[in-house]
Amino acid sequence: MSENIMVDVRNLKKHFTKGTEVLKAVDGVSFQIRKGETFGLVGESGSGKSTVGRCLIRLYDYTDGEVYFDGQNLSKLGDKQLKPFRRRIQTIFQDPYSSLNPSMSVLELIGEPMDIHGIYKKPDERKEFVSSLLEKVGLKREHLYRYPHEFSGGQRQRISIARALSVRPDFVVCDEPISALDVSVQAQVVNMLEDLQAEFGLTYLFIAHDLSMVRHISDRIGVMYRGRLVEVAESDELYDNPLHPYTKALLSSIPIPDPRAASERLAVKYEVPTAKDGVVPELREVSPGHFVADI
Ligand SMILES: Nc1ncnc2c1ncn2[C@@H]1O[C@H](COP(=O)(O)OP(=O)(O)O)[C@@H](O)[C@H]1O
Ligand SMILES: [Mg+2]
Repeated sequence: MSENIMVDVRNLKKHFTKGTEVLKAVDGVSFQIRKGETFGLVGESGSGKSTVGRCLIRLYDYTDGEVYFDGQNLSKLGDKQLKPFRRRIQTIFQDPYSSLNPSMSVLELIGEPMDIHGIYKKPDERKEFVSSLLEKVGLKREHLYRYPHEFSGGQRQRISIARALSVRPDFVVCDEPISALDVSVQAQVVNMLEDLQAEFGLTYLFIAHDLSMVRHISDRIGVMYRGRLVEVAESDELYDNPLHPYTKALLSSIPIPDPRAASERLAVKYEVPTAKDGVVPELREVSPGHFVADI
């Protein structure tokens, strides 16, 4: 495998079983993320984006397929063997309200993952590092002893980001990190994520349900539809030359300012003819680096 590949996802499937029903949340997805790049994953709500993100670090065990991280196959590793990877791979979730324990101070919240992974055992060093991280995410040292309810949504997300970065990860799954934030602070948080990426040499999987912000931040983008990838291309190429009808439908929704309205409109706008059961359409490379699924 090429040395500059950070994440290599091969034919990943995650099926949820409820009674006799099988929900194919992710159904044969393959893509690679290069070191240092931002790979955007877009698609309407329910298309399987978060499930892909969760499978990467085995928050979910998957039904089939493999995930390689920095050349190592994570698929078959036990909890103990996974631990170093659970430091190197971090996630920032959408909802900054439910993802922070309300009874922990900022110092405790950001210090907790460091304790779990045995980073900075000396309290002074630990506190100093947390303080410097707080400043990097645009908060202040005075905030160390405050609690989540004292912060706005945008500030809470900054705390979540500091928490994720406290263990010096290589790769961060950003799962709709700005979708729940006021439009006025969304761009600030995205710009900050870009600055942090440059400073810490991070690789990102950036999940979003609309294309407007991902275009700006992503080097390449994968478009998901009902558990499958229908198109993968470099960011500009995808916008300038979308090939799959679903990608076109998604792009045509960009001007809608309200993300919820956008996904609702999309949900009724496009219907891909269902592929034959069990047959996963292959992505074909139609021009260098531009892949599209047969419809
Ligand atoms: N833990 C779970 N149990 C059962 N079904 C789930 C679970 N997590 C996700 N799903 C289902 O899988 C599908 C994809 O969900 P998700 O990955 O969250 O989509 P997205 O992030 O693109 O909105 C949805 O139909 C969702 O209801
Ligand atoms: Mg999701």
